Amino acid sequence: MVDITLTVNGQTVIRSVKPNTLMTDFLREDLRLTGTHVGCDTSQCGACSIHVNGALVKACTLFVVEADGAEVATIEGQANADGSLNAIQQAFQDHHGLQCGFCTPGMIMATAALLKETPKPTEAEVRHYLEGNICRCTGYHNIVKAILAASGQDVSAVAAE
Ligand code: FES
Ligand code: FES
Repeated sequence: MVDITLTVNGQTVIRSVKPNTLMTDFLREDLRLTGTHVGCDTSQCGACSIHVNGALVKACTLFVVEADGAEVATIEGQANADGSLNAIQQAFQDHHGLQCGFCTPGMIMATAALLKETPKPTEAEVRHYLEGNICRCTGYHNIVKAILAASGQDVSAVAAE
């Protein structure tokens, strides 16, 4: 077992873990943060997307020991301090950017990383950035619309699905 200390959504976490524990299993089973979803076993779907030291990471590709000392953010830490939806979450709701919701936590985390890098992305930039996040329901149009709206851009010209 390996002793680790990390910060998850602003809280210090100290644990002893097996060296081969995946971050997805650690978050979901040890910390019970089940908003980080597991949608594949090939690192392709992006449902497990989190932030590690501010960078977008697929949690299923990371051993938790690799994040020793890191700041980790998951979907559970994304709401505003008063519990209301943040601007990205609200835009997904307003523009119907989800159906079953399975991909949504990963989409929200990817969007937050995109808008930090590129505050006003074009539609093409949004679609390119989301290539690592698969949605099986929506056809992506409303997700793209939600992300453009979350960046404060006019979405009236974006085709709705
Ligand atoms: S569960 Fe991580 S990419 Fe699919
Ligand atoms: S809303 Fe169902 S997978 Fe995206």
